[in-house]
Amino acid sequence: MAKSPSKTLDAYAEEALSALKQEGTYRQLRQVEGLQGVRMQIDGRAALIFSGSNYLDLAAHPALIEANARATQECGTAAGGSRLIQGNLTLHESLECELAEFFGTESALVFNTGYMANLGVITALASPGDAIVSDSLNHASIIDACRLARASTHVFAHSDATSLEAILRELAQSTKKPSKIFVIVDGVYSMDGDVTPLDRIVEVAKHYGAFVLLDDAHGVGTLGKNGRGSAELFGEAIERAIDLRVGTLGKSLGSFGAFVTCTQAVREWLINTARSFIFSCALSPGSVGAARAALHLVRKEPWRRERLQANAAYLRQRLAETGFSSAPSTTQIVPLIVGENAKTMKLCERLLKRGFFAQGIRHPSVPRGTARLRLTLMATHTESEIDALVEAILDSWRAES
Ligand SMILES: Cc1ncc(COP(=O)(O)O)c(C=O)c1O
Repeated sequence: MAKSPSKTLDAYAEEALSALKQEGTYRQLRQVEGLQGVRMQIDGRAALIFSGSNYLDLAAHPALIEANARATQECGTAAGGSRLIQGNLTLHESLECELAEFFGTESALVFNTGYMANLGVITALASPGDAIVSDSLNHASIIDACRLARASTHVFAHSDATSLEAILRELAQSTKKPSKIFVIVDGVYSMDGDVTPLDRIVEVAKHYGAFVLLDDAHGVGTLGKNGRGSAELFGEAIERAIDLRVGTLGKSLGSFGAFVTCTQAVREWLINTARSFIFSCALSPGSVGAARAALHLVRKEPWRRERLQANAAYLRQRLAETGFSSAPSTTQIVPLIVGENAKTMKLCERLLKRGFFAQGIRHPSVPRGTARLRLTLMATHTESEIDALVEAILDSWRAES
């Protein structure tokens, strides 16, 4: 006879949700309307957007919309299957060739999201008997991938090459030396906006014979003279020393999807073993078309990343003048640490009422006690919009203190 559970699933849900409410980390979806850009409707209110990752303001660019529509008209709305069955469109391969050419790598492979790229790449390349050495603030998708990979995982102190070296030295001296070692870092940390000290990380990793995987989700398109991301800031030798780079198509590139740059042999290895690549329908033609148009604009319009970084520097300077620290940010992601969950969310709501949207971020996206407004810039913000934001922050902060 069938046995009924002691509690309904809804009762379990209520219990879990009330624990989150008590902790101040209960989250709700917001209703967002309008064309992506600097001005949108959030929960029915007109707002200036200082949130999200449409950094270059390409997500509603006519060239991307046109390319998306053209690819859809030519190929349809879906790829029609996974890449290894019948979904490998010429479009995917064209984008991959263009990405490889842009980054100066032998090849590239497109994934459906950055989350899936990290999951697929890390679990395919690192196996039991290998070691992963991961920065303590790496993105959740890297943490989840490390758990799935079943290699031994070691976490080093954030951006601390000395801490990294201590772990690598210990691994080198251990009686059960790992077969392969992967050092994994974010290029730009998504909640603090700091850039990884890639030169020191690469130097230490290479000294110990480790491979380097760079997740540059927030650096691609926004950093470097040519938009090649955080690695470009450290010069060509460091760029070439990276074994794998994960980038996304859904942030600065205004489309959807992700990619990894690597050698031709590693690409083939991933095609054969990366489960999030193999067991998932391929990226839709429209997304691929838009991504190709975005890559073209990243090359053609350096003003976008220059304006973006100038805007970010201006916001950091204006916040500093009003007594707020945005350390350790040096990029378009500018944290305003509040600390308490409740105060952060009240500040966020107050700002929204004044017509500015900057999402409050709480645990588990950031460590407990470091809740913050995550302010992000776009290339198309004006200085007077940034001035108005800073004024609204100051007023709202005073009202909450
Ligand atoms: C550093 C980092 N890596 C990976 C991802 C995942 O990318 P996607 O949104 O394409 O899944 C993100 C997303 O926020 C990220 O910040």
